[in-house]
Amino acid sequence: MNASAHGKVILLGEHAVVYGVPALCGALRSGVTVTSQPGDGALVVPAWGVRAYPCLDEGEDLSRAYAAILRALRIDMRAVAGTDFVARFEIPTSAGLGSSAALSVALARALCDAAARQKDPEAIAEAALRAEEVFHGRPSGLDHTVAQQGGFGLFRRGQGLSPLRAPALPLCIGLTGRARDTRGRVARVAALYAEAPEETAACFARIRALVERAAAAVSSGDLPALGAAMNDNQEVLARLEVSCPEIEDMCRLAREAGALGAKLTGGGGGGCVIALAPQGEEAVRRRWAAAGYDSLLTTVGGAA
Ligand code: PMV
Repeated sequence: MNASAHGKVILLGEHAVVYGVPALCGALRSGVTVTSQPGDGALVVPAWGVRAYPCLDEGEDLSRAYAAILRALRIDMRAVAGTDFVARFEIPTSAGLGSSAALSVALARALCDAAARQKDPEAIAEAALRAEEVFHGRPSGLDHTVAQQGGFGLFRRGQGLSPLRAPALPLCIGLTGRARDTRGRVARVAALYAEAPEETAACFARIRALVERAAAAVSSGDLPALGAAMNDNQEVLARLEVSCPEIEDMCRLAREAGALGAKLTGGGGGGCVIALAPQGEEAVRRRWAAAGYDSLLTTVGGAA
């Protein structure tokens, strides 16, 4: 039996979303699929050569996240001890595309099936949040919400996702080749907020205005305005010290190749860059490839 969940892209608003600013985001069509098969209760990730067993207090993140999900769902390990849960990633991992949240949601769903439980959406969300806390510390909740619900819209911390009608938006996703550093970058922004509260709050206010502009641009199909808001958001993210040389390089290359907008997506410090280049996607991807960066093409928004 299979259970799956979506990856995600943040178009604008990462980091500020932790402080209550809305973020514009969309689900990826693909994400993570967890297959249940006869076994001994392991969470298996063939791509990493890993078999993890639940362990709440110590051990790898994967073991602690697995235990946190079981506990939140109130499923006794004995109820699933005859089953292995094999996770397959359909998106790059450690890249800011929400793979850990998609894994958490898909695993929670698979555990409910294996324990013959109803898949109660609130319980799944709570369990995925507990796992995300293991992976990321104090997440805004965006990743696991979009992993679970799919769709496109504005996410607000504590309020969830408000769907937004959007045309299908093709996006180039470029991989810096460096793992994104969500935990470290979130901590750096918190330190900046403590050191320079006014300047940092001004960055968040600027991001809020850009997110609002971008949401309006999406609704009216004004892609140049969306691209400009993405470029401006990237400038503020660099000021918040969550960019890195590869991200800056990839944004510059994308714009040179004709992209209307380019910025990091997710935690930053590595991970992925997104570029909006309607009808010019292949030019952007070729430019990245020539500089040694892998990429993929995806679409967010449009019909679910
Ligand atoms: O790197 P990711 O995919 O986990 O995205 C992190 C997004 C942040 O806004 C930086 C953190 C958060 O919890 O929303």
